Amino acid sequence: MRISPLVTLSVSAVLLLLVICTDWYARLNRKAARESQDSLSELNRIADETLDSLPTIRALGAEDLHSAMYSATNNKIYNIQHKRGVALGFFCAANSGLTTAVRAVALLVGGLISTWPGSTLTAELLTEYLLYVDMVVSSALDLGVEWSSAMEALGSGERVLALVCDPVLPQTGSHRLERVRVDIEFFCRSFAYPEQPSFHVLQHVHIQCPAGKTTALVGVSGSGKSSVVNVIQSLYDLEDGIVKLDGVDLREIDLSWLRRQFGVVRQDPRLFRGTIAENIAWGMVDVSEEQIQNAARAAHADEFIRNLPRGYNDFC
Ligand SMILES: Nc1ncnc2c1ncn2[C@@H]1O[C@H](COP(=O)(O)OP(=O)(O)OP(=O)(O)O)[C@@H](O)[C@H]1O
Ligand SMILES: [Mg+2]
Repeated sequence: MRISPLVTLSVSAVLLLLVICTDWYARLNRKAARESQDSLSELNRIADETLDSLPTIRALGAEDLHSAMYSATNNKIYNIQHKRGVALGFFCAANSGLTTAVRAVALLVGGLISTWPGSTLTAELLTEYLLYVDMVVSSALDLGVEWSSAMEALGSGERVLALVCDPVLPQTGSHRLERVRVDIEFFCRSFAYPEQPSFHVLQHVHIQCPAGKTTALVGVSGSGKSSVVNVIQSLYDLEDGIVKLDGVDLREIDLSWLRRQFGVVRQDPRLFRGTIAENIAWGMVDVSEEQIQNAARAAHADEFIRNLPRGYNDFC
């Protein structure tokens, strides 16, 4: 600007094109990164589900269906990356084209102005100016590349950030009961999962599980039995209702302590990578071998575990 405002104005007009082009590519990159991550997670889900249920898929003769599902998602990722590659090509071409254009405009306009009678823009100043232009343009290019990389990272991390920022974990108190009798009172006016806030899974449910008694929940599939257990375990927040353990509101109880008081066999049990003994004691500390064997005996599993080549130390 100090050397020649007029040349700077004409150079800025070309630089503006560079900014527009970078912004276009950065936006496209962000969208493509997000779509790519979504499709990648879908692809992993299909692969995981397929490998997990291989016997069922074979029994149903659904190999082709799963193969087609995998291919369709894989092609989606290919198309996104292909589009991104083409856009990168255009971006690079535009970058180098506009870089040359900036130099050409500076030289042309500066050259013309320097020939005007009485012009202060001498050949030496124009040379100096061209060196400055080179510096500005290369910095602008670097900035553009960094900007589009930042947008790409933002697009890839959007889902992760949403998960990290979403306070799905219920609040925890600090109260620990001295002796747990396990007297549970469950009172719920309404409960909906955060994923489907408009669908009330439980409505006006009042259940009392007296200490020392066995309580069974019986109902048709989807009626909400597992949801009751999920809420009792504080896996979800019950906003419109209250659950009391031995007369104390669950929200006041130390959550990690509370969960250690439960023994849970879920509807869809999973074995973790480790030995059988480790799996039986999963999540507990300072468990003796005797306690593990007693638990296995109570579940009528002791005999078959002992018949395994390495018994309780056999890998799952
Ligand atoms: N994580 C979740 N997000 C959204 N909806 C859910 C979730 N888990 C369950 N649901 C819905 O809540 C309702 C109750 O499901 P729940 O698993 O509690 O039923 P259930 O009585 O245990 O069924 P089943 O006898 O088949 O085990 C169903 O309509 C189900 O689709
Ligand atoms: Mg269930």
